[in-house]
Amino acid sequence: MSKMEVKTSLLDNMIGVGDMVLLEPLSEDSFIGNLKNRFDHNEIYTYIGSVVISMNPYKPLPIYTAEKVEEYRNRNFYELSPHIYALADEAYRSLRDQDKDQCILITGESGSGKTEASKFVMSYVAAVCGKGQEVNKVKEQLLQSNPVLEAFGNAKTVRNDNSSRFGKYMDIEFDFKGDPLGGVISNYLLEKSRVVKQPRGERNFHIFYQLLSGASEDTLKNLKLDRDFSKYNYLSLDSATVNGLDDAASFRTVRNAMQIVGFMEDEVQSVLELVAAVLKLGNIEFKPESRVNGFDESRVKDKNDLKEMCELLGLEQSVLERAFSFRTVEAKMEKVSTTLNVAQAYYARDALAKNLYSRLFSWLVNRINESIKAQTKVRKKVMGVLDIYGFEIFEDNSFEQFIINYCNEKLQQIFIELTLREEQEEYVREGIEWTNIEYFNNAIICDLIENNQNGILAMLDEECLRPGTVTDETFLDKLNTVCAEHQHFESRQSKNSKFLTDHSLPHNCFRIQHYAGKVLYRVEGFVDKNNDLLYRDLSQAMYKANHSLIKLLFPEGNPSKVNLKRPPTAGFQFKASVGTLMKNLLTKNPNYIRCIKPNDKKAAHIFTDSLVCHQVRYLGLMENVRVRRAGYAFRQAYEPCLERYKMLCKQTWPHWRGPVRDGVEVLLTDLQVPVEEFAYGRSKIFIRNPRTLFFLEEKRRQCLEDLATLIQKIFRGWKSRRQFLLLKKSQVVVAAWYRRYAQQKKYQKIRCSALVVQSFIRGWKARKILRELKYKKRCEEAVTTIAAYWHGTQVRREYRKFFRANAGKKIYDFTIQRIMQKYFLGLKTTTLSMSPIDKSWPAKPYGFLEGTHQELRRIFHLWRCKKYRSKFTKEMKATYEEKLAASELFKDKKALYPSSVGQPFKGDYVELSKNPKYQKLNSLVEDKVLLADVVSKINRANGKGAPRMFLLTKNNFVLADQKTGQVKTSVPLPDLSSVSVSTQNDGFFALRVKEGATSAAKGDFLLSSDRLIEIITKLHRIGSASADRNQIKIDISDEFLVQFKQDKVCVKFIQGAPKNGNGVICKRKNNRLLEVSVPSP
Ligand SMILES: Nc1ncnc2c1ncn2[C@@H]1O[C@H](COP(=O)(O)OP(=O)(O)O)[C@@H](O)[C@H]1O
Ligand SMILES: [Mg+2]
Repeated sequence: MSKMEVKTSLLDNMIGVGDMVLLEPLSEDSFIGNLKNRFDHNEIYTYIGSVVISMNPYKPLPIYTAEKVEEYRNRNFYELSPHIYALADEAYRSLRDQDKDQCILITGESGSGKTEASKFVMSYVAAVCGKGQEVNKVKEQLLQSNPVLEAFGNAKTVRNDNSSRFGKYMDIEFDFKGDPLGGVISNYLLEKSRVVKQPRGERNFHIFYQLLSGASEDTLKNLKLDRDFSKYNYLSLDSATVNGLDDAASFRTVRNAMQIVGFMEDEVQSVLELVAAVLKLGNIEFKPESRVNGFDESRVKDKNDLKEMCELLGLEQSVLERAFSFRTVEAKMEKVSTTLNVAQAYYARDALAKNLYSRLFSWLVNRINESIKAQTKVRKKVMGVLDIYGFEIFEDNSFEQFIINYCNEKLQQIFIELTLREEQEEYVREGIEWTNIEYFNNAIICDLIENNQNGILAMLDEECLRPGTVTDETFLDKLNTVCAEHQHFESRQSKNSKFLTDHSLPHNCFRIQHYAGKVLYRVEGFVDKNNDLLYRDLSQAMYKANHSLIKLLFPEGNPSKVNLKRPPTAGFQFKASVGTLMKNLLTKNPNYIRCIKPNDKKAAHIFTDSLVCHQVRYLGLMENVRVRRAGYAFRQAYEPCLERYKMLCKQTWPHWRGPVRDGVEVLLTDLQVPVEEFAYGRSKIFIRNPRTLFFLEEKRRQCLEDLATLIQKIFRGWKSRRQFLLLKKSQVVVAAWYRRYAQQKKYQKIRCSALVVQSFIRGWKARKILRELKYKKRCEEAVTTIAAYWHGTQVRREYRKFFRANAGKKIYDFTIQRIMQKYFLGLKTTTLSMSPIDKSWPAKPYGFLEGTHQELRRIFHLWRCKKYRSKFTKEMKATYEEKLAASELFKDKKALYPSSVGQPFKGDYVELSKNPKYQKLNSLVEDKVLLADVVSKINRANGKGAPRMFLLTKNNFVLADQKTGQVKTSVPLPDLSSVSVSTQNDGFFALRVKEGATSAAKGDFLLSSDRLIEIITKLHRIGSASADRNQIKIDISDEFLVQFKQDKVCVKFIQGAPKNGNGVICKRKNNRLLEVSVPSP
């Protein structure tokens, strides 16, 4: 057995037992003890097999978070600790994956948490089903239908602050993928009596309070309402506000929800107008007015509320007023009008209010359905959620409780049908041995209520339709006669004498032993409530309203459709709708949530044993556990079973050839599952314990993993091998290429090396041959030399005897002579240049002739100079003399000199005689002009030069204006004492005048001319030519003094930067210094 201990979270850290099926020992005490234990640890959910028991914690628990949803999503039902999500998940998945329509039946007393449970289920399904814009919209609409319906259909009761006062069944429709498509809501029996009267400590429907507290002032004004609850008769005062309920906020939620669901703004407005109208209606009061015939007739007391209500609904006031005073009875084409007394008027008013509200509610449900209904016609899968009022046992039970309890009986029937009876029947069918479990089948109670001949509802209808006076008492009498024998019916007056003395049974009551306990019903009001009468005058008055919604709600008021047939009674309608519901539920796979209320105080942490015990009993939970334990938790047809688990056994895997049943047997035997865990039915295998199933599932899961691993392994092997082969192939190719390349490289290297070696060898060989050849050649030369010397020696030895002692000298002299002869003869043939400046001379032929050679050169030069001179004319001679004089004066003294050597001294540069401008000047000078040129006269003030005509004659020099020829100065040459020039490459010269001479007044002349050499040479030669005059003195110095009129100025020459085109720059540095910067050559 230890092999079967499958670790599941359901069993991990379990408080008590999570599944009552596992409870040991099983008794009512241990059952309740287990519930209490779990409840105390906030474990509000417990399983009985697949049924979920839910305890109302009356406090928020952190078990409905998104993480929880994820935790339970797609998990095995028994895998985690019990939770409503597990059930929702199971239901949703079998809907989605196995295509089975589901219904979730939530039952329990009022306040036990049914509505909350239904919301958890819906929100879970919404969270796990598909996503997407369209789907989300559908979900949102489905979820938002809740607040709207709760506002109009829920109220605070003593048991529950948010008690649903109507039964609700909602079909959620899904497509094949499990995405929600829409839904259909059915409502059952709204407790409309609450509209006009509420028990002590309870409230009217939430919407009235929400409207009054939450609506804006404007809205209230439009609806002619007042915020004050106490102004309205229909609103009970004692619990107008409820702790934990914010009516104003809820109103906003409801309006928002209505918008999401798809209500138009004008529809919302109409709905609110109707709600307001109901409140107004409650304030209409009546007073009696005596009539002549002795009867009282009712009159509306204060017409203001009536007026406002009529305005709201677009009614004509008089029509409604009349409808409250008269009643028209139509019988056999006759109309009889009777007056209403005050009580009847009030009755009529309340009936109108109730009808108005309940019809409004039904309209709301239909309107919501219109919005949320599935838009497609494709086949849908359906999940129904039934949240219907639970069994009710009050002190004072009336028609409503009767109806409600009837409904619960029917639900119990379904439960019995599906879980108990079906199960037993299946065992019988499958031929499984089965010890019958006693359980109470409540079909008999259902029969008591709904039997068409003598059921209580049939009796009631019969009474209501019977002509004559019909009261609740006559109804009870009838019951007393018809049902007296029924074992579940008790009444004081019944023929069954055992109740005659039962004082717990009042006279105007009857008692029914429901499956959940005995309930005492007071007959008062049964007939009325069943009739649910609304005077035709009122419905006709309503139909006349100028209000689209009201008109819609009272179609029977349409005079053209007068229908004399009475409308079906409330009981009849309810029975019919319960019948439809049951049929609907029977087609679906049921999932049960059994809600239990732990205490009556709506308080957390309190667990009232007796209360819980009572609920456990009437919900039949113990029987439920017993059946589960006696039976088998799981069954499955052999084929799918074998198919599912065949991989767990070698014989059945992969194929089993024999009958499937044998296959399953082989399989289970092989797995060593204890025999008592299984029963082999005719077509199905039954597994007793869910854990065995888990064991199988777990094994299968492992096996699947192994199989997956195997497949993976083979696939990976195949893949790797393919990869390997490819790699290998590629490797061979790469290797081949590489080898080729490597060999190529190697070959080239060897080849290179071979060449080097070869070349070395060849070189070495060549050098060797060369060496040999050289040696041979030297040897030959040596031989020749030796031979020559040898011959010489031989000859000399031979001829020595022929020579005298001095023959050597003679030979020598002869040889010398011969050489000289040859030299001179050679000179004769060489042509030499006659130009005196040609320096060329043949190279010396012999070293010993050097002296002769140079001497000959000198002589030749002198000779050719003489030749050259002899060709001179007189003028040329003078010119050369002049040049010679210049050379004597300046050579190596002034840097300007070399440039003048090549220039002929022309003397007249301005062509004085030919130029007419200077004609006058020419005539002024009496002597022959030796030199005429333009010079610059240096201004002593700034060192700048001004052009002047410079004339030199034998006796004086003249300075004249260059342009006009006007004579400026004429100085006789004897007056000049000396000339000063610099050593440099400039044309500056100062003409000094002798002190005391006539021309001395003007001072010395500082002039500049490019032809300085010529000017000064000529000036100097004039002096040397004439014997009477002193030769003019020439100072060559870089610094000299010049006498300008009064002051002496020093002219200083400095070597400037190399020539850059500026030429000579003369600058006056100060009073006494003129600085001339001469560019270095
Ligand atoms: N699971 C729960 N967790 C917390 N509070 C709950 C839970 N179920 C019910 N209640 C509380 O109990 C109150 C009554 O629940 P409700 O579902 O309206 O009862 P029912 O529909 O059976 O009459 C809720 O208003 C809520 O306060
Ligand atoms: Mg409810």
